[in-house]
Amino acid sequence: MRRASVSGMAIRKIASIGHPVLREPARDIAPDELKSREVQRFIDDLVETMRDARGAGLAANQIHEPIRVCAAEVRENPRYPYKPNIPLTILVNPKIEIVSERTFDNYEGCLSVPNLRGLVPRYTEIRLSALDRNGEVIDRRARGLTAGTFQHEVDHLDGVLFVDRVQDPTTLCTWTEFERFHKDGFVSRISELVAEFGE
Ligand code: NI
Repeated sequence: MRRASVSGMAIRKIASIGHPVLREPARDIAPDELKSREVQRFIDDLVETMRDARGAGLAANQIHEPIRVCAAEVRENPRYPYKPNIPLTILVNPKIEIVSERTFDNYEGCLSVPNLRGLVPRYTEIRLSALDRNGEVIDRRARGLTAGTFQHEVDHLDGVLFVDRVQDPTTLCTWTEFERFHKDGFVSRISELVAEFGE
């Protein structure tokens, strides 16, 4: 299941929709456990696996570890070329508070839901409370598409997949048909939001 890499980190197998691990709410981890070598190595693997799969984010339970840890990072991502960049962020025991009731429709995909995308309503402004990988407190706001990315990742830790939130099943499409029929419209709709929030 594990493949060693040059750096000593490992790329882990990603669970696909239907695997029960994706439906179990993940458990909080204690500060001591977070500091352990095992969990720190796990976080390295989470990041390496996310980068290898070109995900914008990855939650621990997607790689079969039901603990409340997720990662997000966007650097000119070819899977999501319209997404503003997100510096590498590790969230431990994250909580999301809704800052504004305003929502936008986000065309989402997921490494655990191969070759499917769909339109999901997300809040445009959230407050994120969590610990970072060193146990330092994170308390910040996220907006726009970046807020959508964090809502998607924290949903994973609650056992929720984006397909659960798709309100109109006729928006479901493969990645190829997204490119052919839905991408231009979506990118033009979303560009105002990206311009407004810059994230
Ligand atoms: Ni996902």
